[in-house]
Amino acid sequence: MSDKPWGGAFEQPTDQLLEKFSESVSFDHRLYAQDIRGSIAHARMLAAVGVLTGEERDQIVEGLATIGEEIAAGQFAFRTSLEDVHMNIERVLTERIGDVGRKLHTGRSRNDQVSTDFRLWIRDAIDHLDHLAKNLQRAFVHRATLDEGVILPGYTHMQRAQPVLAAHYWLAYVEKLERDRQRLADCRRRVNQLPLGTAALAGTTIPINRQMVADELEFEGVVANSLDSSSDRDFALEFGFVLTQISLHLSGWAEEWILWCTTEFGFLKLPDAFCTGSSIMPQKKNPDGVELIRGKTARVVGNLQALITLVKGLPLAYNRDLQEDKERVFDSFDTVAACLELATPMVAGAELQRENIAAGIDRGYLDATTLMEYLITAGVPQRTAHELIGKLVGTAMKKNCRLADLDLAEFTAAHELLDDNVYEVLGVRRAVEAFKSLGSTNPALVAEQVEAWKQRLT
Ligand code: ARG
Repeated sequence: MSDKPWGGAFEQPTDQLLEKFSESVSFDHRLYAQDIRGSIAHARMLAAVGVLTGEERDQIVEGLATIGEEIAAGQFAFRTSLEDVHMNIERVLTERIGDVGRKLHTGRSRNDQVSTDFRLWIRDAIDHLDHLAKNLQRAFVHRATLDEGVILPGYTHMQRAQPVLAAHYWLAYVEKLERDRQRLADCRRRVNQLPLGTAALAGTTIPINRQMVADELEFEGVVANSLDSSSDRDFALEFGFVLTQISLHLSGWAEEWILWCTTEFGFLKLPDAFCTGSSIMPQKKNPDGVELIRGKTARVVGNLQALITLVKGLPLAYNRDLQEDKERVFDSFDTVAACLELATPMVAGAELQRENIAAGIDRGYLDATTLMEYLITAGVPQRTAHELIGKLVGTAMKKNCRLADLDLAEFTAAHELLDDNVYEVLGVRRAVEAFKSLGSTNPALVAEQVEAWKQRLT
């Protein structure tokens, strides 16, 4: 009555509604290459332990390889009635090579098969993302060289705070991406454990060799406990979080650039190739690319939320709920990969509006903290120095001038240690040069960092 590979005990065909509702091949076909690779490794192992003859193994391996080529070429018709990518491939194999194909599923279940395929897929995805993130890091480091010497106002609370080198600003994003790459590498270690061979949930009575399969598929080890293994989606959640973290980093960068492109800021010009226009306002050049990078973070965060909620309260071993994991992971991967890919030429191609930035750099008393630290270095307690310089800033605000425009008499009246040497630390250029601490925006230290990153990213 049922044409399903699992239909032996069934007396009715599957209802059309359930068939449509439960199929996954419409999206898990993306696992086909991993499924074939995993099945080939499984077949080779079955032959090595004497379950298949050498001839049977070769028939299976060749049949699978041909199916793989056909799928890659778009010449394979997936059938919804066969539920998922695993049963589609196995059924067609059997239709072609006959009963030998019916031996392939020995000692395994779709529960360990899907987990194996998914881990292989995520492993490839991680490697691809690492490559994309590294390219974006390179673009930021390149900018650090292009914009050497440019000083930007640094903000806290979106209020002007202290001056920073543009190179220092760009390297901040290089660091964030570096941590993302470390997280990818760390996630990869836990992804890279073989579940295959845990079979349905309890293992198998067939004398399989899991280590052999792990070696062939380049897994670092085998998952130890079969019950844990068939229920475990930690690796998918972790990957979902790493993708979310990358997205969050990109969204902050995007937000800054959206602001920088405004007339009010006027800090940045995006190339026309990376702007879009308005259908009604002829003058508009909108930063839609960066806005969408900011916006797409929402779906990546949503996907992670869905994954977390999916596994909440699930009992041990396989439950069909787990089929819902793949679309969320695929979508987050596609989204973040596209964002990284788009961000790279934008970062490389944008131009700082140096004149605008320089014209406004003296606004906001960016050198006030440096002057305070000058007094502290001369021996004045921090709280006292803070108050004194605060008063001087107040005076300058009333006069609508810079600290450097105040008369020497005004400085010495505020504190006797404020002699004409103060002019040596005032102004953003001198303020930037006065920084000393490791990790600060001090030009020599920043230049060292740029050099170090160039070496690291070659
Ligand atoms: N399509 C299923 C999934 O993605 C494969 C595993 C199905 N296992 C089962 N016992 N029905 O999770």
